[in-house]
Amino acid sequence: MKKFLTVFGIVHWGLIGFLIYYSIFVLKINWSWILFGFLVYLVFFFLVIVRIIRHYYHFPIPSIMTQVIDNPLRRKFIQNPEIIADRMQLEPGMNIVEIGPGKGHYTIAVAKRILPDGKVYAVDISEKVINLLKRKIEKERITNIIPQIENAHAFSFSNESIDRVFAIACLPEIPEPVKVLKECYRILKPMGLVSLCELFIDPDYPRRKTEMKWARKAGFELEQGFGNWFAYQLNFRKKFNKF
Ligand SMILES: C[S@@+](CC[C@H](N)C(=O)[O-])C[C@H]1O[C@@H](n2cnc3c(N)ncnc32)[C@H](O)[C@@H]1O
Repeated sequence: MKKFLTVFGIVHWGLIGFLIYYSIFVLKINWSWILFGFLVYLVFFFLVIVRIIRHYYHFPIPSIMTQVIDNPLRRKFIQNPEIIADRMQLEPGMNIVEIGPGKGHYTIAVAKRILPDGKVYAVDISEKVINLLKRKIEKERITNIIPQIENAHAFSFSNESIDRVFAIACLPEIPEPVKVLKECYRILKPMGLVSLCELFIDPDYPRRKTEMKWARKAGFELEQGFGNWFAYQLNFRKKFNKF
């Protein structure tokens, strides 16, 4: 499958490049129309073609994509780190796990709120993502974020040691989301929260109903929902102690 996707990628983008070249230099179409057509195609590509591919084949998105997804426009108007952190019922001293921290803007917003003794364990399966985050927090002299490579299907954290788990545009990318949520349930203290945020333009975007079904299967109860179909945040509570 990996080989197929690589060949598909090369042929597909090669063809797009050729079409742009042909339109500019042979058909002499105005470049603004070409740019418009290209943007429309990009939207179609990410919302339709990528979704179809990912429906059949799950893989961690390349670390470069995490840089693209986390842009200033999204942070200002769609998924603002401060607003998302405000909804997590945070208190100083908490131990938090973030799955898939990306560039770390959400990690930092949460880490500020749990000072002086709280810690955010920012976990990702990708070494590249973790190394980029390490460099960022070193540069910004942040000491209560601990980036570590982990597979969310099997955390290294002990039972009932964590107050909050959060994941932003991340859980549906992971092949077995219910297994991940069961792991969240295991590591959360009784009455702990898992907070999940999703964004429509994410090729793995699940409907609220789907995410609520996953969480129920893992033992969680829905406590709060924020946002709309385009960008939402759901807080699930661990009410019962199974361990
Ligand atoms: C779309 S990115 C999240 C970006 C970031 N949260 C944001 O909103 O900007 C999803 C991340 O999940 C990570 N990931 C995928 N599968 C994982 C797994 N099994 N365990 C931990 N992290 C995983 C990927 O490496 C990737 O960095």
